[in-house]
Amino acid sequence: MSIITAIFGSKKDKDLKHLRPIVEKVNSYEPWAKSLKDEDFPLQTQRFRERLKAGETLDQILPEAYALVREASFRVLGERHYDVQIMGAIVLHEGKILELKTGEGKTLTSVPAGYLNALEGQGVHVITVNDYLAQRDAEWMGPIYSFLGLTVGAIVSTMDNERRRQAYSCDITYGTNNEFGFDYLRDNMKLRQQDKIQPKHHYCIIDEIDSILIDEARTPLIISGQADDDTEYARNAEKITQYFKECEKDPETGEYPVVSAFARFEEGAKLEPDGDYMLDEKSRRVSFTKEGMVHMEELLKRFGIIQGSLYDDENFEYIHYVTQAMVARHLYKRDTDYVIADNQIQIVDEFTGRILHGRRYSDGLHQAIEAKEHIRILGKNRTLATITFQNFFRMYDKLSGMTGTADTEATEFQEIYKLDVVVIPTHLPVIRKDMDDLVFLNDKFKYQAICNEIARVHATGQPILVGTVSIEKSELISALLRKMGIPHEVLNAKNHAREATIIENA
Ligand SMILES: Nc1ncnc2c1ncn2[C@@H]1O[C@H](COP(=O)(O)OP(=O)(O)OP(=O)(O)O)[C@@H](O)[C@H]1O
Ligand SMILES: [Mg+2]
Repeated sequence: MSIITAIFGSKKDKDLKHLRPIVEKVNSYEPWAKSLKDEDFPLQTQRFRERLKAGETLDQILPEAYALVREASFRVLGERHYDVQIMGAIVLHEGKILELKTGEGKTLTSVPAGYLNALEGQGVHVITVNDYLAQRDAEWMGPIYSFLGLTVGAIVSTMDNERRRQAYSCDITYGTNNEFGFDYLRDNMKLRQQDKIQPKHHYCIIDEIDSILIDEARTPLIISGQADDDTEYARNAEKITQYFKECEKDPETGEYPVVSAFARFEEGAKLEPDGDYMLDEKSRRVSFTKEGMVHMEELLKRFGIIQGSLYDDENFEYIHYVTQAMVARHLYKRDTDYVIADNQIQIVDEFTGRILHGRRYSDGLHQAIEAKEHIRILGKNRTLATITFQNFFRMYDKLSGMTGTADTEATEFQEIYKLDVVVIPTHLPVIRKDMDDLVFLNDKFKYQAICNEIARVHATGQPILVGTVSIEKSELISALLRKMGIPHEVLNAKNHAREATIIENA
């Protein structure tokens, strides 16, 4: 312990010190909540709303409201919020990030905060990482909210506009960041106010906030459509087609040209990693050095794609095309980032491993990948509306989130979103063994060790779920297991159609 923390107490102690008295107040209302009849709960909600209208604040109402929700939860699910969960719910209400270890019941912890903030009648959004969780949580927590007289809805990707509208009109709406983001963009493209379905961005609780706000923060959501027939576009499209032409299959012979434009480009220019360009694998960017730009210009000229300087107005966009071509070539992997199905490039959702039907990479990247994979290049899509998650979530009047592990990213949350991370202890001491990572010298050793472990566990009759980062890896493990004679199923984006059967049999 440093001298400073010894004198002033650590941040964790201070956070808890501030929360404890509020929890005690909540506890003091427990006898009152217990004395209520079931039918009193919605009436009480009504009363809270009136008190807010009369000028009371959410903070003033919080102790009674939280006591009411706790009792509702106990009557509906048989689960009474532990004191640490009440603390967690206060952290959420304060617009901060709650760190509570896995399995401690964050789903239930979000309910008092959702309830309290929904009293203002402007909607509360609970954001989950996938459709399954949105539906699960809405169905699981829904009965508590209903018992209290609030309505609950969930948005899932397959819903039509009308059902979405209904879900958004509820007091509490569950859904993924993707759905919320895209509905916002679609709303933005609607001309008439009455056609919009997503009401205000009042308060949101983001589950697994680290994966949504840090890992995916800068991913832009993009709605694109076929570009209009304006001349500017036509001119560009022609240039792109010309540029990518050499990668297309020859319709006469059915063969691909021996060397694709990019291969020729790279060979001819001798573009060297580090010397000419730099790859940034994490943010998926390619940047060219000054030398690289000179080589790029030489090549584009040699192939007759441009005349004059690369920096001339009419040539400038080729820097972008070449950059995207390099990104496609070096930073996007087939069967990891995308698959080829129905002769199309289909994006694989990096979190769920599912195919994102009909989605295309923006900014010419999709075309560049099509060219790389020798697939018919579809017209350049024009971006109609776009926003990053970072900017989307900044629109909320109040933002909060929860996760099992935020403390390590606390500085990033603070810097990007001005969000404070509060660590709440577990209800009981942790007895689970959180093991250290195992490190292997190479992939081969690692996968063999995984398969040996699978074999060991399988022999005991215990079912095993093995997660991999990519389709390729899932197939690699599958091949090893086949060799070892261990029966198994593989579920990845390639056999999506059999998903239901596979899970059913599991
Ligand atoms: N107060 C409670 N009393 C009894 N059971 C509870 C209570 N709170 C949560 N649980 C149970 O704990 C289990 C784990 O809850 P939950 O899935 O919400 O945890 P979590 O913190 O979200 O975990 P993860 O970090 O893995 O998402 C659930 O089965 C839930 O019913
Ligand atoms: Mg959870």
